[in-house]
Amino acid sequence: MNSEHAADSREPSYTMGYSDTFQKMLHRRNAESYAAYLLPHLGPGLRVLDLGCGPGTISMGLAQAVAPGELHGIDLEESQIETARARAAGSSVNAVFRTGDATDLPYEDETFDVAHGHALLMHVPDTEAVLAEVMRVLKPGGLVAARDMIGASSFAEPDSEGLSAVWTTFSNLLETNGAHPQMGKQLRGAFRMAGFSDVRAGASFECFSTDEDVRFFFDYAAGWFFSPATVEAATGRGLATREQFDDWRRAMERWKETPGAFAAIAWGEATGRKP
Ligand SMILES: C[S@@+](CC[C@H](N)C(=O)[O-])C[C@H]1O[C@@H](n2cnc3c(N)ncnc32)[C@H](O)[C@@H]1O
Repeated sequence: MNSEHAADSREPSYTMGYSDTFQKMLHRRNAESYAAYLLPHLGPGLRVLDLGCGPGTISMGLAQAVAPGELHGIDLEESQIETARARAAGSSVNAVFRTGDATDLPYEDETFDVAHGHALLMHVPDTEAVLAEVMRVLKPGGLVAARDMIGASSFAEPDSEGLSAVWTTFSNLLETNGAHPQMGKQLRGAFRMAGFSDVRAGASFECFSTDEDVRFFFDYAAGWFFSPATVEAATGRGLATREQFDDWRRAMERWKETPGAFAAIAWGEATGRKP
């Protein structure tokens, strides 16, 4: 698998990249936990679009929820689409995946009953362009659904050594790539601005609360946030110094050994209807 990630470029780009470490985070995901707010709206026979589907772990649960309907997954990255296709090949559901850009969708007008994106809007600089495309490809009355991070409400506890600065630096890094680290709490406004009606917003936490979860979260931070590429990107843009990264890394080592260690990623989620 491609082990580079895009954070080492000075150009605005997709911050997370496609490293094995980040793929492990995506492979934990499923529709039951990560699209729980959407599942009650799904039923047999619907045609669903999953924008920025990544390796398709959430997509496959959406496909099951609408079987014998259709799930169409789209992502910029070919390697992600190949992984999603391999997952679908071993299943009986109707799921097709293709590469493409959420700001320029390769689908006819009024094709879908539902358009969903998990951690997609937060990464695409032009929110309006994505939502205009979603509006175009949804059928009248169709549902838009998105779930994105709220960087400012995410945490690692105990925070006695200033680990909140890690979240701030991560958010700043996203912003320097044109991304939207607080998008989760901005979804209601973005949907209303784009012309969707009956907009409902909520929020939930992804918790790392068992010893195994805490180890996973530490390994994720070690392999992504403290990777040479991320350190290079953040220090190169003046967001932090190498000394700060070294201090944070040591603080996280101690954090993971703390009996009460607990981390959570805050997510905002919203739905709306095409009038
Ligand atoms: C954080 S991952 C989320 C993957 C999946 N939705 C999940 O939550 O497990 C974001 C995905 O969006 C894709 N992406 C970023 N910008 C995109 C764009 N403009 N159009 C389509 N996909 C995009 C990336 O390639 C990446 O696979």
